[in-house]
Amino acid sequence: MKYIIFNWKSYLNLKESINLSKIISRFKKSKKFKIISAPNNFFHLALSKNFKKNIYATQNFDLDGRGASTGSLDVSHLIENKIKYTIIGHSEMRSNHGETDKIVSSKLDASINNKLIPIVCIGESLNIYKSKKTKNYLRSQINTIFKRSQKYDQIILAYEPLWSIGTGLTPELSEIDDICKFLTKILEKYTFKKINILYGGSVNLSNISEILKLQFVNGVLVGSASTKSSFINYFK
Ligand code: PGA
Repeated sequence: MKYIIFNWKSYLNLKESINLSKIISRFKKSKKFKIISAPNNFFHLALSKNFKKNIYATQNFDLDGRGASTGSLDVSHLIENKIKYTIIGHSEMRSNHGETDKIVSSKLDASINNKLIPIVCIGESLNIYKSKKTKNYLRSQINTIFKRSQKYDQIILAYEPLWSIGTGLTPELSEIDDICKFLTKILEKYTFKKINILYGGSVNLSNISEILKLQFVNGVLVGSASTKSSFINYFK
């Protein structure tokens, strides 16, 4: 079974999020795909009330805790709203909100302590890719984010090259599979009940079939294409 994560970012308003959720809610239960949608955090309550069978993730949460932290989304608010999945370390949180691998690591701990299933995003810049240092870079990200002493439950790890997100550019299929194989290998040093490795970055209707065929890729994390019903209907 492949994980299909729709990251709607801040693309959609409530009505559009409801429309796409409606399409997803009509899909027959599938053994091929597990669809998880990450709507704008503000719409969770409305969506999960109306579409009880759909699975939703938050796009982020904050580490400030409950209390005097204006604008924060605390992990307890996710639990209260019965949200099971959360994206952490997305490149846009990293570039727009200064989220570092250390912060991602703390968020990973917080999600595990609260029995949330984290979708952890990692990926290299174009410079690193061009200088063929991708594997070293990803290894250091993994080493900072994960702890050898920790027994992890279920984790989803999304490999998203920064230069691929929102650009229409992707690595070659063989490169994607090779990186996911490499990640599978280096993650053997850590203890997981279940780990799924996904690819993300400019996934669309023209490349989805080939990406999902790759041996070491357990699914995809999709941004802009996932806001279109034509793309979503691929999974019905
Ligand atoms: P994209 O975004 O599919 O629009 O490239 C992917 C992501 O940001 O996770």
